[in-house]
Amino acid sequence: MEIQSRLPHVGTTIFSVMSALASEHKAVNLGQGFPDYDMPGELTALVNKAMKKGFNQYSPMPGWMPLRESIADKVAFLYANRVDPDKEITITPGGTYAIYTALTTILQPGDEVIVFEPAYDSYIPNIEINGARAITIDLVFPDYRIDWQSVKNAINPRTKAIIINSPHNPTGSVINEEDIMQLQQLVRGTNIFIISDEVYEHLIFDGRKHESMLRYPDLLERSFVCFSFGKTYHCTGWKLGYCIAPSKLMAEFRKVHQFNAFACNTPMQVGLAEYMANRDAYLQLPAKMQERRDRFIVLMKETRFDLLPSGGSYFICAKYDRISDEPDRDFAVKLTREAGVATIPVSAFYRNGNDHKVIRFCFAKKEKTIKEAAERLCNY
Ligand SMILES: Cc1ncc(COP(=O)(O)O)c(C=O)c1O
Repeated sequence: MEIQSRLPHVGTTIFSVMSALASEHKAVNLGQGFPDYDMPGELTALVNKAMKKGFNQYSPMPGWMPLRESIADKVAFLYANRVDPDKEITITPGGTYAIYTALTTILQPGDEVIVFEPAYDSYIPNIEINGARAITIDLVFPDYRIDWQSVKNAINPRTKAIIINSPHNPTGSVINEEDIMQLQQLVRGTNIFIISDEVYEHLIFDGRKHESMLRYPDLLERSFVCFSFGKTYHCTGWKLGYCIAPSKLMAEFRKVHQFNAFACNTPMQVGLAEYMANRDAYLQLPAKMQERRDRFIVLMKETRFDLLPSGGSYFICAKYDRISDEPDRDFAVKLTREAGVATIPVSAFYRNGNDHKVIRFCFAKKEKTIKEAAERLCNY
């Protein structure tokens, strides 16, 4: 059989390469973005209870209604905006699926989507598989902010959407009110959609405010806002998230979703619906994660890595030019083999492999893991 690839440029990702290398060399894995500490026991207990009570069959296509109601309450509490759980929220199998579904909902062949690089690895393949083109714009190194003049220059009648990701993977950069104003000005009076990847909404540090599209009615009217329970409740393996969009947009989103996953697993939705009443679980998250970041920063002072600022997310990037001038991929491979610490080279998040000689560390790890990694790096 012959098969013509829909994604001829996609090969094995650097994440798989680095993880395989990490296990081969018994390295401390600060590469992949997932916590190695336990998720809340209360939440697993609620899911167990739901299973035992018989919530094990299909849930409704848009999601378990009490969960959608809990989300609507949370949005009203955090972002002073009441969204309709019936028509404007859909539960999805993860944040990535929500983004893919939103892109598939709006894109026609030949459309263009503006993507900031470095970029989360699913965006460009998700655009291309829909027959559209990704127009990439580099975030300004080394603070990885958006250059709005470049965005203005890139916009043309084919521009269908802009993908915003804040807090940002892989760099930890965060958009602010000025960015929102620039975005508002650029899209006003256009038919440009916004796909807002807000999976790290609660992983935001130093008192920064999360600039959700949900705060701004003029942006929300054109937005698909995507979230992940995995990131908020330390259960990335559950692959559960949600999308919020105005009812007209959401009706189209659901047409795509209903012939794909159709519905998400029921007991986890039932458990989450109850657990979400515990506001402290997410309100305390910024401080807890900031503590992990700060501990990592202190330990890394003893090394020859120069950390770049991280205002949010699970991640912090580092320059290594005091150690080596090798390309970042080679350096990351060598670091895994020789120092026993796995990271991700940031050039992997650029389509053209743009290399600022920066690697990404994930600090969403146990104290013991972070200490072990830092000790190994001190001797390198
Ligand atoms: C920026 C970004 N968006 C989306 C996701 C995926 O979320 P989920 O696991 O819920 O699909 C991730 C996970 O790493 C991410 O970093």
